[in-house]
Amino acid sequence: MPMRVGLGADHAGCGLKDALAAHLVARGVQPVDFGTGDPSVSVDYPRFAEAVARAVAAGQIDLGVLCCGTGIGMAIAANKVPGIRAALVHDVTTARLAREHNNANIITMGGRLIAPAFAADVLDAFLDATFQSRHQRRLDQISGIESGGRGGPA
Ligand code: RB5
Repeated sequence: MPMRVGLGADHAGCGLKDALAAHLVARGVQPVDFGTGDPSVSVDYPRFAEAVARAVAAGQIDLGVLCCGTGIGMAIAANKVPGIRAALVHDVTTARLAREHNNANIITMGGRLIAPAFAADVLDAFLDATFQSRHQRRLDQISGIESGGRGGPA
């Protein structure tokens, strides 16, 4: 089965989201579009972040990409869903490290900040990277915070 990547956006990220969906198809990755579909209609980003994040957390899709004006609101909202590690990325280095060090399962980007062709390279860097398991201890500490405990020794 091809990898499935969920995409979500508000009006400010819709154009970038659609460009990245086409890029995923060209890569042989199945895009799953959670909307929005009309950049001329202002919509609120949290519900799109939640839809993609819950689908990732439930294992219905493998990874997620969220686009708003800056990527900031999408990251904040997606990270409220347990099990989600959403990273705001700006370039191929932050995208690669988001996977290698943080095992991010969602990346967010700003449709008002990043050109589609550049964003496609950023997405490729994320998809091509591999988590380095030496960082697992830190991720366990983050999970500890999420479940109401402590993040680790003070
Ligand atoms: C919408 O104007 C804008 O606030 C939103 O797309 C995003 O940038 C929020 O973080």
